[in-house]
Amino acid sequence: DNQFITLGIESSCDETSASVVAEGRNALSNVIASQIKVHQVFGGVVPEIASRHHLDNINTVIDSALKEADVTLDEVDLIGVTHGPGLVGALLIGLATAKAMAYARKKPLVGVHHIQGHISANYLEHKDLKPPFLALVVSGGHTNIVDVEGYNQYRVLGRTRDDAAGEAFDKVARVLGLGYPGGPLIDEAAKKGNPHAVEFKRVYLEKDSLDFSFSGIKTGVLNYLNTQKLKGELVSVEDIAASFQLAVMEVIVNKTIMAAVNLKKDRIVMAGGVAANSLLRGMLKEACDKKGLGLYHPSPILCTDNAAMIACAAYYKYQAGIEDDFYLDAYPNLAL
Ligand code: KG4
Ligand code: ZN
Repeated sequence: DNQFITLGIESSCDETSASVVAEGRNALSNVIASQIKVHQVFGGVVPEIASRHHLDNINTVIDSALKEADVTLDEVDLIGVTHGPGLVGALLIGLATAKAMAYARKKPLVGVHHIQGHISANYLEHKDLKPPFLALVVSGGHTNIVDVEGYNQYRVLGRTRDDAAGEAFDKVARVLGLGYPGGPLIDEAAKKGNPHAVEFKRVYLEKDSLDFSFSGIKTGVLNYLNTQKLKGELVSVEDIAASFQLAVMEVIVNKTIMAAVNLKKDRIVMAGGVAANSLLRGMLKEACDKKGLGLYHPSPILCTDNAAMIACAAYYKYQAGIEDDFYLDAYPNLAL
């Protein structure tokens, strides 16, 4: 039929992903090859190893995405690819592949900002959702409060000054001996713990600031563990996980609600890996209900890195007349 078909490619971190999306919003396939197992033994993503695995996987992943969607490369109308931010060697694998395919098959090419992709994940599941709204982007690499004024209009209102939220979860999980990646493991452990066992400091920075700082709480957890050990007391990992999680989420929820109220936004849209967190979802839902705000988030599989969100974002850029040429490059610190 005559559906507009976008092929999305994502390789910014440790997931090699390709997806076929019809009409910008309907994911026909979303193949994700995760390298979690490869990097687990190192306790974090090793960039050089990530690049090599992307290279090994990318062609198979793209083939599977097309096959699963029952779409041929000929039928693809647009190729969208993440070109930053992320690990530069990892980004280059997806980008070079996308460029080669676009060049060989004479397809239009659009580079996508990874965060624009994360936000766009919501369009795939909430068919009526349209900007404007306020977005909370919480992932392994980013913590942003964003004023989304249009499909391609973003104003970053707040950002982390040090660690990203997911990074803090991953680091604290390591300190607690829970493993990698830490976010889902802390989420689970915290369910069995008392969130008021330890009062970790809530860092709000200057009055009215929408910025975040999460590096202190990691040290806070470490110091707490060390003093407990000195005292010879038994430390419950579940209690610490629950207390840490509450301290982080309280700040995120309060700042997000403050931003929405100040900017008179009636809807909040969550995005990024940490948006899968059950406590964050619950707390934000409760806060939004109290203020009469709508709350949207993708299902867990679309919260973490995937190419469907990239295809969706590419579609809206292309609709707005944006197209890239073959000079498109990878930028590890690309600004939104
Ligand atoms: O969006 P994402 O896949 O990659 C980046 O763009 O960074 O996010 C990955 C991050 C990791 O730090 C992971 O620990 C965190 O999201 N994460 C979670 C949960 N699931 C994933 N953090 C807290 N709770 C979760 N349930
Ligand atoms: Zn991401």
